[in-house]
Amino acid sequence: MDVIRIRGGKRLHGVVPISGAKNAALPVLCATLLSDGESLLRNVPRLRDIETTAALLRFLGRNVEVDTPLVRVSGNGEPRPEAPYELVKQMRASIMVLGPLVARYGRAKVSLPGGCQIGTRPVDQHLKGLEALGATIRISRGYIVAEAPSRLRGNEIVFDLPTVTGTENLMMAAALAKGKSTLVNCAHEPEVEELALVLNKMGARVNGAGTDVIQIEGADELAPFDHAIVSDRIEAGTYMVAVAAAGGDVLLENAPLEHLEVLAVKLRAAGVEISREGTAVRVRRDKPLRPVDVTTAPHPGFPTDMQAQFMVLMCLAEGTSRIVETIFENRFMHVPELGRMGALIDVDGHTAHVHGGRPLSGAKVMATDLRASASLVIAGLVTAEGETDVQRVYHLDRGYDHMERKLAAIGADTQRIKGDEHIKGDEA
Ligand code: EPZ
Repeated sequence: MDVIRIRGGKRLHGVVPISGAKNAALPVLCATLLSDGESLLRNVPRLRDIETTAALLRFLGRNVEVDTPLVRVSGNGEPRPEAPYELVKQMRASIMVLGPLVARYGRAKVSLPGGCQIGTRPVDQHLKGLEALGATIRISRGYIVAEAPSRLRGNEIVFDLPTVTGTENLMMAAALAKGKSTLVNCAHEPEVEELALVLNKMGARVNGAGTDVIQIEGADELAPFDHAIVSDRIEAGTYMVAVAAAGGDVLLENAPLEHLEVLAVKLRAAGVEISREGTAVRVRRDKPLRPVDVTTAPHPGFPTDMQAQFMVLMCLAEGTSRIVETIFENRFMHVPELGRMGALIDVDGHTAHVHGGRPLSGAKVMATDLRASASLVIAGLVTAEGETDVQRVYHLDRGYDHMERKLAAIGADTQRIKGDEHIKGDEA
């Protein structure tokens, strides 16, 4: 397994190109199952999760050419409507082939994703929504077996809580259902809006994406599409925090600041300068950091996917801050690893109190999930002495395109030490 080795203490200067959004590219790739012909995706990030989704689409019978930032998906006729455990366990977002397969071919067999490091991650909302559209669902030996003997029919679906991939799965199913569907209590994430843009390009009629209520007029047939994926707000946010932590002055090219307002407000409160310069976002920090309290929430609230990274920043602030994680039940696994680097963080259930202002020192640390990995790399950037080896970086590679290279390009002392690859469970 690869290790990323970081020597701290370097301020960061230069330009970081922000890639396409992983969590937009994944549902859009699944949407290619809704039509025949060749679809073209542009600005796709070079990530393990993209390769995993390509492998899944190939397993289903589609032709997929990954030449990032371009991905071509083509193929006609009914695919093999099965997503096997071996692929789904690598990436829970594989569940998003369920809606398209049932809507288009009337049947699908998709492995239950199971839990992961950050939580049990149930998919009950996905299944309830498909039943509301007329599918029959049964669980058999770890697999979801969904059937729709006749075409799905539009209906009203109320989510018990906002779920990003649940909203996306049902949008894709409803796009080919007969008649109108109304999805209520939807996730507002920008990635949901991106999928709606693509479904409308394909010939569906989707209105209200980005709000609580999404109205969808199902089409009898959908067409392939050509679409450039929106920039990744979480990648951009991660580099914003990295510069805030290490100090310096960096431009983030194509960073979607409009999707990062809450993070920007919190960073400014901590003493970080955030400003827009053309299509770039400029991040500067050269004075002491102030403690800031944060509670994660569905979009447009503070993103849970930025919680671990922001916690590292608070370890450097002069004082105590409170971080509350409300989305997942176990998303503080970076805390013990940060503790091994000298951080003082008290966890009580969903609340962490970060006692900042203590110097961090380099250590061997273990990545446990995608965003925790990123937080450990950021911690390595700011150690007062020693070097940090972040192990199990396959977690990092799922969601960040060679983070060590992008950091080295702006002055960080980071390098990747190759090891033998092992693919483990997933959490995204
Ligand atoms: C998406 O996961 C993202 N992944 C996650 O990003 C992100 O952390 C999460 O949304 C929250 O923003 C992708 O978009 C591929 P949810 P998702 O369904 O859709 C509960 C990353 O780092 N829930 O919005 O799986 C669930 O347990 C990854 O890129 C149910 O109870 O998350 C959680 O507590 C990690 N039943 C809450 O809802 C359901 O049927 C929100 O989960 C579905 C979800």
